[in-house]
Amino acid sequence: MFFYVQITALDASFLVKFTIMFPIAPRYTSTIAFLLTFTFQISCGQSSINQQGDSKLDQKVEKFLADHRNDWRDMNVPPKDGQTLHDIIVSKKYTSALEIGTSTGHSTVWLAWAMSKTGGKVITVEIDERRYKEALKNLEEAGLSDYVDARLADAHELVKELSGPFDFVFIDADKNWYMQYFKDVDPQLSVNGCITAHNVTNRFEGTKEFLDYIQSLPNYITEIDRKSRSGISISYKKQD
Ligand SMILES: C[S@@+](CC[C@H](N)C(=O)[O-])C[C@H]1O[C@@H](n2cnc3c(N)ncnc32)[C@H](O)[C@@H]1O
Repeated sequence: MFFYVQITALDASFLVKFTIMFPIAPRYTSTIAFLLTFTFQISCGQSSINQQGDSKLDQKVEKFLADHRNDWRDMNVPPKDGQTLHDIIVSKKYTSALEIGTSTGHSTVWLAWAMSKTGGKVITVEIDERRYKEALKNLEEAGLSDYVDARLADAHELVKELSGPFDFVFIDADKNWYMQYFKDVDPQLSVNGCITAHNVTNRFEGTKEFLDYIQSLPNYITEIDRKSRSGISISYKKQD
């Protein structure tokens, strides 16, 4: 007699599910059960994705991301960078995020998906009306509207007016304003919170000054995600 073992898993990008079924002889079942348990524990330790939250919503978001994988043409982050932001939020259990530069909402979907798992919300700001409206449609289709407060506004003004506190910030708008965004948002960022910024290794005007400045601050620890083609700075606030 043979037992069948079925393994269902997500691929490395967490977008494609695959299932393997194979027969095993009874004398190997306890060994295989041990190995599967062990492997499952290792993979749980590597990524916090899909461990919490509502699995129906997760499926809807995964489908949305898979369906639209090649549709992002408005300066949107690539999926890998969205995943990085998502994983920081979930692993640190952040619940109050600010995004500067929504565009059509690709990064917002990743941030809001993370928020759906931590029980938080993201405020996102976009100045361009067409992109803002497109982002609202995308968030609706992904099932994530409840986790987002999307604002059509000039972030130069709005960011100064927001009261926070935030525990996660993603800066991805006009590069020559990155330093000023940081200075405006820093007082609203809680200790142990995180400020991230996109395109910091792309040599846009203003990003080098921003990076030099943030790396010089004694109360922040900054790392650069170099797996990202554009470079994401990730800065944790250690004290006020
Ligand atoms: C690189 S795109 C953002 C991409 C988005 N984070 C994503 O991954 O889907 C930058 C966006 O910032 C917006 N932007 C530029 N200056 C802005 C400002 N002062 N206030 C608000 N949004 C601004 C642009 O209109 C543009 O849509």
